[in-house]
Parts: sequence; structure tokens; C-alpha cells
Amino acid sequence: MPKLAVLGYPVAHSRSPAMQNAALAQLGLGGEWSYEAIEVAPEGFEAVVRALPADGFEGVNVTVPHKGAALALADEATEMAKEIGAANTLVFADGRIQAHNTDAGGVLASLPIAPGGVRALVLGAGGAARAAVWALGTAGARVDIWNRTPARADDIRIEFESGETIRIQVKAAPGPEPDLDQSVYDLIVNTTTVGLHGEDPFAHLPLRRDGFVPGQTVLDMVYGEAPSTLLAAAAAAGAGVVDGLEVLVQQGALSFKIWTGLDAPVDVMRAAAYSLDGS
Ligand code: ATR
Repeated sequence: MPKLAVLGYPVAHSRSPAMQNAALAQLGLGGEWSYEAIEVAPEGFEAVVRALPADGFEGVNVTVPHKGAALALADEATEMAKEIGAANTLVFADGRIQAHNTDAGGVLASLPIAPGGVRALVLGAGGAARAAVWALGTAGARVDIWNRTPARADDIRIEFESGETIRIQVKAAPGPEPDLDQSVYDLIVNTTTVGLHGEDPFAHLPLRRDGFVPGQTVLDMVYGEAPSTLLAAAAAAGAGVVDGLEVLVQQGALSFKIWTGLDAPVDVMRAAAYSLDGS
């Protein structure tokens, strides 16, 4: 019985088990494969991962806060995972641990627009921002990064601009000042955690509630029961909106393909992810 799991801390509210088990069932693999959530604290992460293959695991998803550690312990990694500096998918094969990153592909697959040539603003400079900047930059977008702590945005810019295989046009946006003109961007991506605990995004991010314009696309990685405050304002202005749950679905579909070799039933995964109570 091949086993799969998501490792996180905390992980109890992850929608990945419902989503992945729905996909396995849809393809008739529900009796063979299984997918569970395993909570593991950072200090125990490496030992738990190394014990998984002997316990029948074929691979795992890795989520916050383990994505850097997952890359570090792997025997081999895709170029994408190395350049982003994080892995969200591990494969156990022939006694070796392979690291992949499907977060970047998940961002691209979730967008209703082709990013080539677009002007994009990425808010934030954590792991989610790195995957988004890498995805958009390699797809040909011109990316500005804004972060509350500007030095972290600058670190991403310097690292990606000097990368060996990617040439990304990235600039750190001017800072938290309200002079950042959100109307010039074709795409705005919020990767910060603002809104996760009910904070007002317009009090913490360099965006105005009435500053969105039609024709823009706004992606908010924060998701919950209702559309986020950010997306509600963007939609009211006629902008296209994408929520973080769609990114979760798309990264999960890419991971599913890596483990099983089968195209994931994305609609089934989306229905399972959205039907859960996200408390
Ligand atoms: P992840 O790896 O999931 O992206 P992270 O590394 O904790 O998470 O990053 C969280 C992001 O949200 C950071 O960009 C953080 O800004 P700082 O680098 O300045 O800490 C941002 N963030 C969190 N709370 C914020 C707030 N109240 N206002 C603005 N940005 C905030």
C-alpha cells in the first residue's frame, strides 16, 4: 500500500488530505494509495522524513515551516527547487530523497492570464513570495517586490538577478509609502500573511481599497471561508481575482502527477478543497 502525507507544524487544518484522497478515489486508487496529515515539529522533521520510506511512504508534501529543511535534506533536487530555495514535494525512490517545488507551477496554473510581459507586484518576501517571484520572473513578467521589511525584498532581488540559469527582472518597490501606484500593475500577488487573522489589508499593505482597476488580476494567497477583504475590493473594481485555495489545488495536482505519474483530476480536487470548513 503506497502511502503519501503532508508534513507541517501545525497541519491539522490542511486541506491536502481531503483533496488528495478525493483525487486517488476518483482514479480508482483509493483502495491502494492513502494520504494523511502528519504533524511534526522542526526539531523532529529530518528524523521523521528519513523513517518514512521504510514505513511504505512513496512521497510527501511539505508545508510551513519545513520547506527549506526539506530541500536541505534531499539527496537530489530539481533546478527549480534549488533556485527557489525550498521544496514542497519529496519523492522517495531507490533509497534516495528527491526534492521538487510545485508551488511555483501552482501559481502559474492558477492565473487566468499569461504572465509574459506583464507588470507584476508581489507583496511579501517569505517562502511564498520566493516561489511567486521565481514563477512570474521565469515566465517573463517584470516583477516589483514590496515587503514591510525592505531588506528581505532586496535579498530576493539580488539573489534571483544573479542566478545562473534564470534572468529575472525584479526590482524592490520603494517601500511602505502610499505613493506606490497599484493601478499600473497588470497583476498583484499578496503572499504576506496579512488578512489571515482578520487584519485589514489596507492598513498594512501599500494598497488602497479604491485603487484597483478593471483588467487587473489580483491573487491573494490568504484564503478562508469568504473571499478575502483584498479580493472583495478588487472584484468590486472589476479586477479578476484568484484565491490561495486555487494555488493549493494546482500545486497539489502537480505533486499528484509526480508521485503517481497520472494526470490529476483537478476539478475533483478543487471541489474537495472548497467543500471543507476552513476553520
Ligand atoms: P511564508 O514563508 O509563508 O511566505 P513568512 O516567511 O513568515 O511566510 O513571511 C510572511 C510575510 O508576511 C513577510 O513578507 C512578512 O513581512 P516581513 O518580512 O516584514 O516580516 C509579511 N507580513 C506579516 N505580517 C505583516 C504585516 N502586519 N504587515 C505587512 N507585512 C506582513
